Amino acid sequence: MKAKITLAKEFRIGEIDKRIYGSFIEHLGRAVYGGIYEPGHPTADENGFRKDVIDLVKKLNVPVVRYPGGNFVSGYNWEDGVGPVENRPKRLDLAWGTTEPNTFGTNEFIKWCEKANAECMMAVNLGTRGPDEARNLVEYCNHTSGSYWSDLRRSHGYEKPHNIKLWCLGNEMDGGWQMGAKTAVEYGRAALEASKMMKWTSPGIETVLCGSSSRNSPTFGTWEVESLDIAYDSIDYVSLHQYYGNWEDDAPTFLARTLEFDDFIYSVICACDYVKAKKRSKKTINLSFDEWNVWYHSNNVPFERWSVAPPRLEDIYNFEDALLVGSLLITLLRHCDRIKIACLAQLVNVIAPIFTKTGGGVFEQTTYFPFMHLSNYGRGSALLPLIDCPKYDCKAFTDVPYIESIATYDEENEEMAIFCVNKSLDESVVLDVNLMDFAGYKPCEFISMDGYDKKDENTFDAVKVKPHNNPVPLLDGSNLEVELKPFSWNVIRLKK
Ligand code: AHR
Repeated sequence: MKAKITLAKEFRIGEIDKRIYGSFIEHLGRAVYGGIYEPGHPTADENGFRKDVIDLVKKLNVPVVRYPGGNFVSGYNWEDGVGPVENRPKRLDLAWGTTEPNTFGTNEFIKWCEKANAECMMAVNLGTRGPDEARNLVEYCNHTSGSYWSDLRRSHGYEKPHNIKLWCLGNEMDGGWQMGAKTAVEYGRAALEASKMMKWTSPGIETVLCGSSSRNSPTFGTWEVESLDIAYDSIDYVSLHQYYGNWEDDAPTFLARTLEFDDFIYSVICACDYVKAKKRSKKTINLSFDEWNVWYHSNNVPFERWSVAPPRLEDIYNFEDALLVGSLLITLLRHCDRIKIACLAQLVNVIAPIFTKTGGGVFEQTTYFPFMHLSNYGRGSALLPLIDCPKYDCKAFTDVPYIESIATYDEENEEMAIFCVNKSLDESVVLDVNLMDFAGYKPCEFISMDGYDKKDENTFDAVKVKPHNNPVPLLDGSNLEVELKPFSWNVIRLKK
């Protein structure tokens, strides 16, 4: 097959907010205990943080990490997780049917973020609790001193405020599985009051309103409009959550889910702008896609109820999952004018790109690599490539382009990158790239992941599915030709 991509500086979608490469750590399964935190592990530092995990997180270059949930946050008393560890209570976590020991909490997470070069995106409990406990947490974290909660933080050994900028107003409040689930109006009111009081406590923070728990939620659309109608003036972002699974072992349909993902994003932008128009507002609400990933491999795995940190949601990802993760991230970048934050859910062990053995080693899952490429090389502005390529039909979609692509242009560092997925299971694509007005830019690296069976996975013994380098393609005038192997992930890097 043949395809053509044309790129020009004028095809700029917008500046990429680095927080689009965020991730998520929830008190769930072995994300915290046995994941990022494991005192006594051979690589643990003085805080009990696993250094082998931190090294992989740093390579992934994740600028923001959402915490502490997820469903967990809707029953969480943040006060349980601060102060002397010996005084912290063990609690039942009704979200995941486990026991939370609270030996890791807010301050430990902030310290971990510093070590991992990430910023914290903190979620407050608007399920079983409300605006009062939320503003107290903001005071504890962000107020310098001279008040009850800020002085309590100082007495816990944290003299300087944490200055957390980004706050989620609860989690998936439309879902019946959520502790303290609400109607859109109940939630809109709680979110408005919480956001107002949190911002009065710490001016300059940003807040994220919960959108629907997914595009499939029965209240999707109405929920966004009704809750936004109430909270619009105080909040900054609306959240989106979406997970995909290849339940029917149908790779063409699985990879075509990006069309649905794109449609979901577009619909939420429309909902925000509809409320904006209705209010004659000058303020634009942007999007925080704060949970997205593949999630289905581990769904029916049993666990011991009320145990501490049992393995939960431990999906082992295969090669086709990596291609979907890369394609989804490309789709997010195509909307970088409106999506300012996104979190790959999650970061370690729980539906995650990094997988550990408690007391043992760690490895990169297949999905680690496309994310790493985009977060390291996909900086600056996103450019919408003009793509001329063949299309396919599958069970759930028609006219699916074989090529998924985005280009990024980092003017300051004089670098460009073109990211492409070839979704064809059996055919190569000869891609002709026309660089138009990028005179002086020359290819310097051509990385790809290809040649694997779609079900190939990585293990502790062998990271089999990983990127490799190809010969650098030559420039012919302003054109270059590359072969995208069947079912492959590709990154072409250029420098001036
Ligand atoms: O990421 C796992 C769970 O998925 C989160 O706790 C919840 O927000 C979502 O349903």
